[in-house]
Amino acid sequence: MQHHLVTGQTLEFLDNPLRAPWQDCVRIDSAGAVRIEGGKIAEIGPAAALRAAHPALPVTDMGDALLLPGFVDAHAHYPQTAMIASWGKRLIDWLNSYTFPEELRFADPDYAAKIAARYFDLTLAHGTTTVCAYSTVHPASVEAFFTEAQARGLRALTGKTCMDRNAPEGLTDTAQSAYDDSKRLLEAWHGVDRLSYVITPRFSPTSTREQLSALGALYGEHPDCLMQTHISEQTDEIAWVAELFPEARDYLDTYEAAGLLGPTGLFGHAIHLMAREVDRLAETGAAVVHCPTSNTFIGSGLFDMAGLAPRLPVGLATDTGGGSSFSMLRTMAAAYEIGQLRGTAVHPAQLLWLATAGSAEALHLGDRIGRLAPGMEADLIALDLASTPAISQRYAEADDLWEAVFPTIMMGDDRAIAGVWIAGDRRI
Ligand code: GUN
Ligand code: ZN
Repeated sequence: MQHHLVTGQTLEFLDNPLRAPWQDCVRIDSAGAVRIEGGKIAEIGPAAALRAAHPALPVTDMGDALLLPGFVDAHAHYPQTAMIASWGKRLIDWLNSYTFPEELRFADPDYAAKIAARYFDLTLAHGTTTVCAYSTVHPASVEAFFTEAQARGLRALTGKTCMDRNAPEGLTDTAQSAYDDSKRLLEAWHGVDRLSYVITPRFSPTSTREQLSALGALYGEHPDCLMQTHISEQTDEIAWVAELFPEARDYLDTYEAAGLLGPTGLFGHAIHLMAREVDRLAETGAAVVHCPTSNTFIGSGLFDMAGLAPRLPVGLATDTGGGSSFSMLRTMAAAYEIGQLRGTAVHPAQLLWLATAGSAEALHLGDRIGRLAPGMEADLIALDLASTPAISQRYAEADDLWEAVFPTIMMGDDRAIAGVWIAGDRRI
């Protein structure tokens, strides 16, 4: 449908509720509508007014469902789909025991294509319309991800995960081949349809200085590309980085020395940062990505939302399959729980911001996705706020939208996703 209306409750963000009082950042309409034309949002307003102004338009009435931008998952590993929820290890053992053996299977392009399709089936069912994913070392894993996203018309981001040490032989490349393969993939896919290439060194322990520098050179040649990696997820990992890079001031310095610190940097986890690292990230404008279900699942630590969000762009992410869910609802719930453990209650407006506009801004896509606003790409979801008996009975007691939506954030899953539109076309 080229031109149509979707009605429901609408939630618009006017500003970042982690940097200004959340009450000043939101506009709610309990009987709102979104007018979609040519794959973009043309208008938001009261349903009655939009219906009257456009009497001939087809209308999809979502009742009391909450219309939101599709969720944006700022850090995930699509190749870890089939080993999610693997038991009993911490980061380095978990990588060696579960992750690397599974990623080896992506040497087979047919397997990569099968998992890419499965991954997008699962993420769309959970209301996630854009993902920034790691692929594996195999260029075919990037091709599989982009081919599947392109066929579905999705805005999507990925890159080849580069490693030239401390990983099994079938998962390593070299400094030169990482540069060459990444460059070839970037030139083939970056900016094609709704796809973006992301320069992707896995993390400092699995790259030599030479490889980090080769990717830093590529980043220097393509500063419009994002660069994604991991930083300061677990204390053992940080100690290992200090052993491997004795000359570095800290973990961030291993990336900066290689030319990998820039305003389009995306640093996953960022739990145990030193003050200098936070200052340097803030000076640079780089973003950090909070992966709360992963941080509790792998036992990594408690992200400092209250300390970091006022200073740095923060994205929210599943980190599938270190994260234990494909759901950004479950991810918001875990972010809330981590906030509570740190003594900071994150408001539902802030959680919804993080899962939509916050992640979009971290990905430098805040002018295209992540908000209900005229001119944005029409990737939307409708959230059923009474999707199960347990949620429904709590919803019935709610006095305002925040009380109405919080049970779905805390207890909801894919059953809450009543509708998904990609560039204006309904998919669910
Ligand atoms: N650090 C390096 N690689 C990974 C990964 O695949 N998952 C997580 N959670 N942390 C990492
Ligand atoms: Zn990760």
